[in-house]
Amino acid sequence: MVTKIKRIAILTGGGDCPGLNAVIRAVAKTAIHHYGVEVIGILDGFGGMINNKSIVLQDQHVSGILHRGGTILGTTNRDNPFRYPVRQQNGKTIWGDVSEQAIANLEKMGVDALVVVGGDGSLSIAYELFQKGVPVVGIPKTIDNDLSATDLTFGFDTALTTATDAIDKLHTTAESHHRVMLLEVMGRNAGWIALHSGTAGGGDVILIPEIPFTYEAICEKIAERRRRGKKFSIIVVAEGAKLPDGQLVYQEMVPDNPHLNKLGGVANVIGSIIQQQCQVQTRVTVLGHLQRGGTPTAFDRILGTRFGVKAAKLIMEKQFGSMTCLKGNEILSVPLGDAVKEQKLVKPDSELVQAAKAVGISFGD
Ligand code: F6P
Repeated sequence: MVTKIKRIAILTGGGDCPGLNAVIRAVAKTAIHHYGVEVIGILDGFGGMINNKSIVLQDQHVSGILHRGGTILGTTNRDNPFRYPVRQQNGKTIWGDVSEQAIANLEKMGVDALVVVGGDGSLSIAYELFQKGVPVVGIPKTIDNDLSATDLTFGFDTALTTATDAIDKLHTTAESHHRVMLLEVMGRNAGWIALHSGTAGGGDVILIPEIPFTYEAICEKIAERRRRGKKFSIIVVAEGAKLPDGQLVYQEMVPDNPHLNKLGGVANVIGSIIQQQCQVQTRVTVLGHLQRGGTPTAFDRILGTRFGVKAAKLIMEKQFGSMTCLKGNEILSVPLGDAVKEQKLVKPDSELVQAAKAVGISFGD
């Protein structure tokens, strides 16, 4: 039972995204200056908790980092304390539960509560730790924007701005060469980045996991544009878009840890098929980790700051097992258990999909 909060810890888990430093800064500055509490930064996500790696965060560590991408604490999407590779005496490695060790390390660090900044994977771990008695507050992070309990995650706006910029650049070269340009964007099994950047960038076709497509519909859209004198087309493809036979395209499979399977390459497959089927010249750009890097947008800095300040407040109020969220324009909190229950996907009949269709964007359906 936590009595008075004197020292808190913060870790960033999973894939990085722009805005993490804004969150770390906000949590630390609020805790130190507003509540008079010490802050420990756990290094490299849950790996640092398992292996007892941390630093004391003082104002000087979090000053000047607001505009910087990445995370000053480091991160990993591999170290899950409930499923951790443990080397046996016989040389074999098995998956073991090292959560007790991780919790003991937290106690060694002398912390009274933990802030976990993460996506669904890290927040699920945070929830399991909470169920084991660790006082945890979560903050939702991911460029994919696929967490259901919050209207937006920070990092998404920066990723979609990068993707929109790429579409703008592809437009000029597509037009010069009368080509069909495909841009593959991230997002895992959700189409948020593709839908938003494709709409903002004026894409002609957007392919997302939530809406099945046919090659015929794509070719018809390209042909219809040609009839109108538009000899080029831009196709924005979410990495998780399913081929017409329902298959996903992976660049790497990790058989003993399938959640680490790496999506990627679907735009190359689609590009070569429509080159033949539609008799057009195609070129494919896979935007990749550019979407995760660089300076956060003003929106993500502000959202990250609001989430960080709210998380510090939730900790001081001992509202453990909760996660900060954005609802409308309000920063609120939800139970962590609810937050990790289901993935937020694009609804095919949602207003934005309808708006995109109304201005002539095809979803290949
Ligand atoms: O979840 C964020 C994300 O960038 C996804 O959009 C993408 O599929 C995945 O992470 C890439 O992960 P990694 O950095 O491990 O290649």
